[in-house]
Amino acid sequence: MSNVSGKKIKLGVLGSGKGSNFVAIAEAAQAGEIPVDIVQVLTDVPDAGIIERAKFFGIPAQYVSPAPFKNKLDGEAEQQYIQILKNAGAEWIALAGFMRIVKKNFLDAFPNHVINIHPSLLPLFPGLNSWKQAIDYGVKITGVTVHFVDSGIDTGKIIAQKAVPVMENDTPETLHQRIQVEEHILYPAVLKILAEKEL
Ligand code: GAR
Repeated sequence: MSNVSGKKIKLGVLGSGKGSNFVAIAEAAQAGEIPVDIVQVLTDVPDAGIIERAKFFGIPAQYVSPAPFKNKLDGEAEQQYIQILKNAGAEWIALAGFMRIVKKNFLDAFPNHVINIHPSLLPLFPGLNSWKQAIDYGVKITGVTVHFVDSGIDTGKIIAQKAVPVMENDTPETLHQRIQVEEHILYPAVLKILAEKEL
């Protein structure tokens, strides 16, 4: 247990994909390396791998339809997400590959407690497929950013960054794989600092 009191922050995780960042956080939490209790996982993609991975850890996980919106969380769907997370007791929210814009109502429900991981050195290459953007641009260094979420796209206050070199023969896939290795170290490390500060 990493804090003296044995207390943990209650974390909700939102993801749209395979959930490898979720697994990195869940493993660190399970090992007692970070004072974090993941209380709920939600996804906007019915067959997202993150659901099965959450179930493996015994963490409640469900798909909640984001309809009718294509790339944002808004309206009734947004209210549903907030309600489920509140009911689960979530105090902090980690976006882990959640490929939708979260808006003011959601952020107001968890003020200054929503964070995101992004696969570039922000403010460079916001948005989608940042590893491909890095290769297309020809940068020699890219990386990972963990930041607070605000109502812009990948614009919130930066908490931590880690650089990743771009190799001569990198493809978008090999670069993303190396970025993910750093993501899986950085996200739990940032949560550890935020949680310990709060507790
Ligand atoms: C991660 O690389 C994350 O940084 C990225 O999606 C991937 C999710 O992987 N997020 C974004 O691009 C957000 N704009 P995971 O499902 O294996 O954690």
